[in-house]
Amino acid sequence: MPVYLDHNATTPLDSEVVEAMMPYMTGLYGNPSSVHRFGRLTRDALEQARMQVANLVGAQPKEVIFTSGGTEANNLAIRGVLANRSISRFAVSAIEHASLIAPSALMAEQGWQMDMIPVDTQGVISVTELQKQLGDTTQMVSIMAANNETGVLQDLSTLVDTVKTSINNVVFHSDACQIAGKMPLDFAALKLDLMSLSSHKLYGPQGSGALVVKSHVDLQPLIVGGGQEKNKRSGTENLLSIVGFGAAAELASKKIQQRKSHVSELQVQLIDRLKELQGIVVFSLEAPRLPNTVMFSVNGIDGEALLMLLERKGFAVSSGSACDSGSTEPSHVLLAMSVKPEIAKGAIRVSFGEQNTSDDVFQFIEALVDIKQQFN
Ligand SMILES: Cc1ncc(COP(=O)(O)O)c(C=O)c1O
Repeated sequence: MPVYLDHNATTPLDSEVVEAMMPYMTGLYGNPSSVHRFGRLTRDALEQARMQVANLVGAQPKEVIFTSGGTEANNLAIRGVLANRSISRFAVSAIEHASLIAPSALMAEQGWQMDMIPVDTQGVISVTELQKQLGDTTQMVSIMAANNETGVLQDLSTLVDTVKTSINNVVFHSDACQIAGKMPLDFAALKLDLMSLSSHKLYGPQGSGALVVKSHVDLQPLIVGGGQEKNKRSGTENLLSIVGFGAAAELASKKIQQRKSHVSELQVQLIDRLKELQGIVVFSLEAPRLPNTVMFSVNGIDGEALLMLLERKGFAVSSGSACDSGSTEPSHVLLAMSVKPEIAKGAIRVSFGEQNTSDDVFQFIEALVDIKQQFN
C-alpha cells in the first residue's frame, strides 16, 4: 500500500477506537429508543459518546446532536437555521467546504440574500472585509475554523466578537470538522451558536458527526420521523459509529498535544525541503495553519497528473479539494485567494497523521524530485 498522506480526507481508525466499538458489533445491538435492557445499554453508550464529544470541544452534552457526518451537520446548520422565516439574509465565507456552500447556494436560489465573505491572498478573513458583508438584517454567519485544503485557521474569536457586537441576535456557525482533534477547540469560549464536527477526521469511523447547538437557537430538523436527538434529527442512531466517534474524541482529548507536535515536525520538515526546490509554490505560508497540512503547486505539472505519478511512486495525497470527489476544476479556495487558475490547477495537498514518519517526508521529496526531473 502507498504511504498515506491524506489525513484531511479521512483518518484510519485508531485501534483503541476499534476496541471500544467491538462490543456493539457483536453482542450489544439494542435500539437506543427501546425501553428494555437491550435498549438501555445502547442508550447509555450513546449518552457516553455524547459526553466524550462534548468534552473534546468545550460543549455541554445536551448541545450535541448526532448526525451522519460533517456534511449533514453543515446542511442542518444552514437549512435548519434559515428555515426560521424571519431570517432573510446570511453570510458565508468564500472558502467553505462544498457541504456548506451547496446548501447555502440552495437557500440563495430560494430567495434568501447570501453575502460571500472574501479572504486575502493567504486565505485569511479580515475583520474589515467581514464587516463589509454584514448588514442590519444579517441574521446568520458561517465561517469555518480551519480550511480542509490549505489548513488555514481563522481568528474565530475575533470574528465572532465582531459579528456579535455589530448585530443583535445574530447566529454564528462554524464548520470545525478539520480543526477538532488536531488543535484545542472551545465551543463555549468562542461564543459560537453552532458548530459542525465529523468523526472520521479524528481517527473515528465514517458515518457519524455532530452539530453542536446552543439551546437558544431555533433549529428546524431536516429529517423528521421518530423524534430522536430531541426531534432535531430523526432516525435510529448509527450507534456503532457514534460509539467510535465518542472513543475517538476521548482519545483526541488525551493525545492532542502529542499528535500536534508529531505532525507539526513533519510539516516543518516538508516545507523546508519544498523551499529548497525550484518552481514550487507553497500556499498560505504566512497564515496560521493546522499543524498537519501542506498545500503546494509544482510549476508545469497538473495536480491530477502529479497525484497519479506520486501514487505510482507509493504516496497517497490529494489534489485541490479532494473531499469534493474527483473534481478537476481548480480549487475554489485557491481561486478565492487570487491564485492564478493555472497555478491552482497544479495544487496538491499533503496532510500528515500520527503514523507518518520523517522517513515518509524524505522519501516523498525524493519521489517529487524524480517526477520534476521527468518534466524538465
Ligand atoms: C471542512 C469540512 N467540512 C465538512 C466535511 C464533510 O464531512 P463528512 O465527510 O463527515 O460528511 C469535510 C470533509 O469532507 C471537511 O473537510
